[in-house]
Amino acid sequence: MAKLIIVTRDGTEHEITGDTSLTVMENIRDAGFDELLALCGGCCSCATCHVHVEAGDVDALPAMTEDENDLLDSSDHRGPTSRLSCQLPFTDALDGLRVRLADAD
Ligand code: FES
Repeated sequence: MAKLIIVTRDGTEHEITGDTSLTVMENIRDAGFDELLALCGGCCSCATCHVHVEAGDVDALPAMTEDENDLLDSSDHRGPTSRLSCQLPFTDALDGLRVRLADAD
């Protein structure tokens, strides 16, 4: 278990205790944040789990794959810290990670 901070589109910050056996996307979804659609269920084909990583140990995040990079390129809201949250296993090393839900495309 580790702390995960989620900023919803209205700017509200929510802190949850995340399950480190799940991805960041699964933690957000399972906590009931339905702004994050995650339509493909985590198989890196929809980009509706797009988040901006705002704080935390970004070095502990896995490197971005070409597929993730290509999908993020399809978003009008891509920023320098954009990631697909389904591609981020939520590990203990990410305790305190803060992510903002990206605007919908
Ligand atoms: S849930 Fe579809 S790409 Fe992440």
